[in-house]
Amino acid sequence: MKALDTVLKTACTAAALIGVIALQPARAADEGNGKVLAGTHNCAACHGPNLNNPVSSDYPKLAGQHADYIYWALRQYQMGNGNPNFGRSNAIMSVQVQNLSQSDLKDLAAYIESLPGDLVQKK
Ligand code: HEC
Repeated sequence: MKALDTVLKTACTAAALIGVIALQPARAADEGNGKVLAGTHNCAACHGPNLNNPVSSDYPKLAGQHADYIYWALRQYQMGNGNPNFGRSNAIMSVQVQNLSQSDLKDLAAYIESLPGDLVQKK
């Protein structure tokens, strides 16, 4: 029965490990890292100081926008790179996001949402 014992122990260890991995909470977005990334990627060069005063009216204001929306906008620029049928295919923004990870995009989005901005919801 030694062999069966070993198989059972191995199976239990594997099940426990899977349980531990499945229980890992999703990583919370890190605004501080988002701020660092916004600086190293010069987002303010186009979107303006505090990402709230773009250099031109065809560059959007970002400050205060919902993080979910910003994350998906950034993700779509990444996916749409070179493929106008999939995601957003803006040449300027596609370049900005190609070397960023999913968690980098979430960190940037959290930072942008935290900034005081002029975007308003008219009621
Ligand atoms: C060289 C200028 C430039 C730089 C640098 C730049 N952007 Fe942009 N960004 C633009 C332009 C232009 C658009 C509008 C593109 C379009 O029409 O889809 C835009 C659009 C966006 C949008 C979509 C906003 C919306 O409301 O849909 C987000 C989000 C964004 N930029 C975030 C960033 C972040 C974060 C960085 C830094 C990592 C960055 N941008 C760097 C020019 C720039």
